[in-house]
Amino acid sequence: MSAAPRVSPSRAEGPTDLRTPTRRGVPFRSALKALPFLLRNPSTVPRVLRRSFPEAFLDHLIRVGEEELGSDRASAEPAPSPQELARWEADRRVRRTRAGTYGGPYYLLLYRTVRRLRPRIVVETGVASGLSTALILSAFERNGVPAHLYSADLPFQGYRTDQGRRTQNEAVLGEFAAFVPKRWRPAPDGDAKGPWTLVLGDTRKTLPALLDQLGRIDLFIHDSAHTSEVMGFEYREAWPHLSPGGALASDDIGWNEAFPEFLRSVKVEGYQGSRFGLAVKPR
Ligand SMILES: C[S@@+](CC[C@H](N)C(=O)[O-])C[C@H]1O[C@@H](n2cnc3c(N)ncnc32)[C@H](O)[C@@H]1O
Repeated sequence: MSAAPRVSPSRAEGPTDLRTPTRRGVPFRSALKALPFLLRNPSTVPRVLRRSFPEAFLDHLIRVGEEELGSDRASAEPAPSPQELARWEADRRVRRTRAGTYGGPYYLLLYRTVRRLRPRIVVETGVASGLSTALILSAFERNGVPAHLYSADLPFQGYRTDQGRRTQNEAVLGEFAAFVPKRWRPAPDGDAKGPWTLVLGDTRKTLPALLDQLGRIDLFIHDSAHTSEVMGFEYREAWPHLSPGGALASDDIGWNEAFPEFLRSVKVEGYQGSRFGLAVKPR
């Protein structure tokens, strides 16, 4: 797996883009949004009351994600196989975490992939409420391997327009990167010592330069605009930068033909689940 190069701090925006005002520790819109999840998972209610919904939900996903993770750490092919991913996806305990717009097997498959692959350099596109970001960073922590995540998203525009409408860029929780715990956020001086760098701008502009700067990456995750054009563009850009045995993951692969077409173009079988797709770069 690749060593961790640094992207210059000027590429990363500081916490001014990561404001998360809360009301008694719970982001304002989350209480209502949390209801379906709480009804399905009543054991989490005490934790949600004690902590914030994002923290409690993240903990819950990690707990389920850690179950039956597989112990074959020494395998020459650490990325989960298509058969294993299918088994995880069919697991009732994984499906049970579905909670409205949150959860579902996607996040568990992503979390377990990062745990198994033990990547050092990960690039994801699409942050929004930051659930995938927080899960990837949590998996890094449990992997115990020094690792860095570069997350690409558009500059956050705020939540309300002059007309009182919320912007298209609004995260589900109402706050950009609301799930990402403070300890992982960039320092106010832009010092990029932590495990996370935010790269702001349209991926069609930022991704080629970021990947060129990084050289080799171990895992790429697409979750920005789910158009064939952007998906295909990101897959094609990322693939040559993946280390042998590294992987390309994608959310919402069923929205169009971009993922299966890409698999055919690189002659890789890959995994195509209900939302999650994974292609492992041959060694
Ligand atoms: C589906 S959300 C990401 C969800 C996040 N990965 C998660 O699972 O928690 C999509 C995000 O992609 C961003 N986005 C859409 N088009 C983009 C583009 N062309 N370049 C960069 N970011 C983009 C949006 O601003 C939005 O925050």
